[in-house]
Amino acid sequence: MQEGFTIAILGATGAVGTRMLAQLAQSTIPIKAVKLLASPRSAGKQVTFRGHVLTVAATTADAFTDVDLVLASAGSAVSKQFLPLAVARGAVCVDNTSAFRMVPTVPLVVPEVNEEALRQHHGLIANPNCSTIQMMVALNPIRQAVGLKQIIVSTYQAASGAGQSGLNEFYQEAKDYLAEQPMTATIFPTKGAQQHYPLAFNLLPQIDVLEDDLYSHEEWKMIHETKKIMLGAMNASEIKVTATCVRVPVPFSHGESIWIDTGDPNATVSQLRQALAAAPGVVLQDEPQQQLYPQPLNATGTRATYVGRIRPDLENPGAFNLWVVADNLLKGAAWNTVQIAECLVADGLVHALAE
Ligand code: A2P
Repeated sequence: MQEGFTIAILGATGAVGTRMLAQLAQSTIPIKAVKLLASPRSAGKQVTFRGHVLTVAATTADAFTDVDLVLASAGSAVSKQFLPLAVARGAVCVDNTSAFRMVPTVPLVVPEVNEEALRQHHGLIANPNCSTIQMMVALNPIRQAVGLKQIIVSTYQAASGAGQSGLNEFYQEAKDYLAEQPMTATIFPTKGAQQHYPLAFNLLPQIDVLEDDLYSHEEWKMIHETKKIMLGAMNASEIKVTATCVRVPVPFSHGESIWIDTGDPNATVSQLRQALAAAPGVVLQDEPQQQLYPQPLNATGTRATYVGRIRPDLENPGAFNLWVVADNLLKGAAWNTVQIAECLVADGLVHALAE
């Protein structure tokens, strides 16, 4: 039998799960077997992995027996139901949902920023929200080079962040609109909302539910996940963060307009560019003379986080504006999850392979 790890993908048929499998196919992780798990609706479906045909199974607690690593993206409720059972059976789980992100003992990890947090894991590791991940990859090198005191971010988030069904609804709306037919909205701005609005040819300033404090839950995630990743605690105050999250009619890759105060009145654009050019996971695309700047169409299908339009705030020394784009399904989800799994294996944090 081939030596390696047995890896389960929970939510294997979804927008993120299918990409987790594709990322895993390119991974350096030694793999003995891959188990594909989804809802009973998908049981029996066949998928090819490295030339082998795999069959999707319905998710049960017993499906996690003898599994070393679980990569999960089947929604929070499914993660809450099954991941503790998988951990109890000895698996290490990397969860792409928000189910455990704010549990203090669960590391929330962007490998370029806080890989060392993995050493504290107790079987569960959380993958941050897609829009938080790309912001962390772009801002951590700036924080290290010149400092970071405040962040004001506005997001331009792609339809695929709402999963395959959201993407399908967006495409159907676009077809209907162009055929001069009425658009039918059942998913956006968020499943379970009282009102639904079309996304095609529109902008929706609501992602996830609107909370009593007037922020959307997506905005809440960006604020508190940033603090947990950069400062170690969800309510830490050394960096101030505020966010406005907007769903835009783009299928893949999120854009973010970010204003930062570095706290260093002498900081320069060239310092920021230098730090970003050398940073892991970042591609600097900042040549105004050539009209070179990050765009969703170019980022889609790649693992990198693209940064451009870096410019000083003309009235606030030490403050800057920048524009950041990344594939929300890859760096924002599937790749970050597989990258965490690669770190766990490389750092000996899964368990030793059996002889
Ligand atoms: P299925 O395709 O069988 O519904 P997306 O984020 O694109 O909407 O994908 C969600 C993923 O989560 C899919 O793989 C989906 O499987 C899976 N899923 C949904 N509900 C469950 C469930 N109750 N148990 C296991 N997997 C689920």
